[in-house]
Amino acid sequence: MAKISRRDFLRGSAAAGALGTGILGGSVELEAAPRTEAGVGIAGPGALPMTFRINGETRQATLEPRVTLLDALRDHLDLTGAKKVCDRGTCGSCTVLLEGKAVYACSVLAIEAQGRSIQTVEGIGRPGKLHPLQAAFVEHDAQQCGFCTPGFVMAAKALLDRNPHPNLDEIHQGLSGNFCRCGTYAGMRKAVLHAADTADDEETEPRRRRKKAEAEADG
Ligand code: FES
Ligand code: FES
Repeated sequence: MAKISRRDFLRGSAAAGALGTGILGGSVELEAAPRTEAGVGIAGPGALPMTFRINGETRQATLEPRVTLLDALRDHLDLTGAKKVCDRGTCGSCTVLLEGKAVYACSVLAIEAQGRSIQTVEGIGRPGKLHPLQAAFVEHDAQQCGFCTPGFVMAAKALLDRNPHPNLDEIHQGLSGNFCRCGTYAGMRKAVLHAADTADDEETEPRRRRKKAEAEADG
């Protein structure tokens, strides 16, 4: 996908406004589209076919370029795990992973997310086969209304993916982009610590079994 600098974006926005058209687009078919001075195609304002990589699957939708990733997921792709609360990048309830990094889906345009790996809370576990983080949130009663929970789980996943053994301070820092109005922070931090330990157990158990098998084989 073409990278768009802030300067290009501002130029494009001005151009789009002047043309009365839509917004900049990177990976949609834009050969015949008008271009900014910097040569970036302008998409829209009408709906365009878009293709996404979500939870390992290819998904398609026809969306206006102004549609956010959050609205695309919830309203067009039947993935309602990410929640819409502030819709302005402050609460974290809409957190998903984009190329493995936690992002606010309400602050990313769907058109920009094309061709990039998107992971939502639905993609990491399901009832009966929960991700260790999801299971730990349940075990530690780390929720009340639960509205913030999917966002916290995804932020915690991003944290453990880059730091499998965080201490409490690092967990505090890693979850600092997410708000819980019910105030279940203590339970959530414990859940993340627990999930990190569980992942350790899962890693070491096959090793233990292999060593035992090797010892038995050695006689
Ligand atoms: S809904 Fe996206 S940050 Fe609040
Ligand atoms: S559990 Fe209610 S907002 Fe977090």
